[in-house]
Amino acid sequence: MTENRDRKLRSRAWFDNPDDPAMTALYLERYLNYGLTREELQSGKPIIGIAQTGSDLSPCNRPLVELAKRTREGIREAGGIAIEFPVHPIQETGKRPTAALDRNLAYLGLVEVLYGYPIDGVVLTTGCDKTTPACLMAAATVDIPAIVLTGGPMLNGWHKGERAGSGTIIWKAREMLAAGEIDYEGFMEMAAASAPSAGFCNTMGTATTMNSLAEALGMSLPGCAAIPAPYRERAQIAYETGKRIVDMVREDLKPSDILTRDAFENAVVVSSAIGGSTNAPIHIAAIARHIGVDFDLTEWERIGGDVPLIVNLQPAGDYLAEDYHRAGGVPAVVGTLIQEGLIREGALTVTGRTIGENCRGVLPTDMDVIRPFAEPLKPAAGFRVVTGNLFDAAVMKTSTISPDFRRRYLSDPDDPMAFEGRAVVFDGPEDYHDRIDDPGLKIDADCILFMRGTGPIGYPGAAEVVNMRAPDYLLKQGVQELPCIGDGRQSGTSGSPSILNASPEAAAGGGLAVLRTGDRVRVDLAKGRVDVILPEAEWNGRRAELQAAGGYAYPESQTPWQELQRSCVDQLAQGMVLKPAVRFQ
Ligand code: FES
Ligand code: MG
Repeated sequence: MTENRDRKLRSRAWFDNPDDPAMTALYLERYLNYGLTREELQSGKPIIGIAQTGSDLSPCNRPLVELAKRTREGIREAGGIAIEFPVHPIQETGKRPTAALDRNLAYLGLVEVLYGYPIDGVVLTTGCDKTTPACLMAAATVDIPAIVLTGGPMLNGWHKGERAGSGTIIWKAREMLAAGEIDYEGFMEMAAASAPSAGFCNTMGTATTMNSLAEALGMSLPGCAAIPAPYRERAQIAYETGKRIVDMVREDLKPSDILTRDAFENAVVVSSAIGGSTNAPIHIAAIARHIGVDFDLTEWERIGGDVPLIVNLQPAGDYLAEDYHRAGGVPAVVGTLIQEGLIREGALTVTGRTIGENCRGVLPTDMDVIRPFAEPLKPAAGFRVVTGNLFDAAVMKTSTISPDFRRRYLSDPDDPMAFEGRAVVFDGPEDYHDRIDDPGLKIDADCILFMRGTGPIGYPGAAEVVNMRAPDYLLKQGVQELPCIGDGRQSGTSGSPSILNASPEAAAGGGLAVLRTGDRVRVDLAKGRVDVILPEAEWNGRRAELQAAGGYAYPESQTPWQELQRSCVDQLAQGMVLKPAVRFQ
């Protein structure tokens, strides 16, 4: 990268425009009123925004409130001026009806700030699930120099001598409670044990996934994703990130230089290797569409399908965030993949060097946490992209298929990757909660649970509800999980091998809308298909009936934003973006 200190920074249009002294004065005076000087604002120093996603409402990102101070010091050290501002909060575990609703809202707000204020470059503070894609999507749209600083995961949780991972322990406790093994107090105690410090989820949920992928995309300093929030290295990298963004502005190194097709391919390979969340394809599609790279869902299977799972983190494995960091984090994963020729080494990163230059030769320091490529946790651990007569596209995270599930459903010697079952259909999470334990439904191990009405339109933002537990009477019989299929999402911390993100959703006219409890459904993972077995006349008749009734019914919007988003949101397979906002249709 050649440095160009003479290039006119965009902030000059506000603070130093000799053609319009009145406007310059207006822009200047109010930024002077808290103590900045004219000399600072008019000396040509880069103005660096710190997009602050942390707050009391967002505990996952709250460490960033303090970390930003170190980032400011780095910015100042390198000759820039820091201006911190809030981003619309998105707390995964706090926002109703779902935090995903706010990803596009935070995106829109951040775009307006980055575009409309005198900012030459931005530090994107990230962490909790949706905050990372929201920030990256905005940086992609505005395309000014941007660098990701995540606040870092929590320390490892412990419960009764075992690692207790975020989210994962909730799913486990939910089953234990339903089976009568623990009571309410026991449930709360297990949950609290998994959250021992400030930071975001310590499992390989959507947060660690998206921060790892931000790093794999080249958008953060190497090693940034995995450092736990309370570690000294976290504050140190906050400082280094602040220093680096100032030089990125001088080099005019923009997201469009970094977020290339090669970068997205690297993200997919890394996602498979780390056992990334099923939310990743949605967010990666959104980032790609905002930067203008054509990156279809099927690429996940083509590029990432055969990549093994080498990172041994819950929910697919045993360890947690501290272990991931100590074993080398993302650079060690990328270094391992480089040895296998799986990384596009020429992809540029925020360091100004390529990912190959950053990570070649970096290898894990703990081979049980980040396994050697030849001894993975699971072979071919990428997502399976499935289609069929119920939807055009859905994903399945094959790396979390348990031995028990495999034995029950995927071990017919004649047809090892296929099974059939009786559909039990739920219309949204409330319907599921009301009826799942009703013996009248006669749910048994031959059933496939369906969740519909939970996509971006049906349940604004798409609910994380497809990983449904079996009824309590089955759990007591030792049936731990049933196959689940749906048009919603599932928590990245869930280990269920659901088929989810089905697009189009029922509310957008997808085939799930005509499915009925009692229908036979065939799942064939070898062929990548899910089909309801119905005579064509019956199918067409049901379609006509539904159309006559005005289509699949879903609840009314509760807020203006829900209504606005519903009017222009795309499906999960296409990134759940706001259609008018993207460069790439
Ligand atoms: Fe915020 Fe998991 S809830 S990272
Ligand atoms: Mg989640």
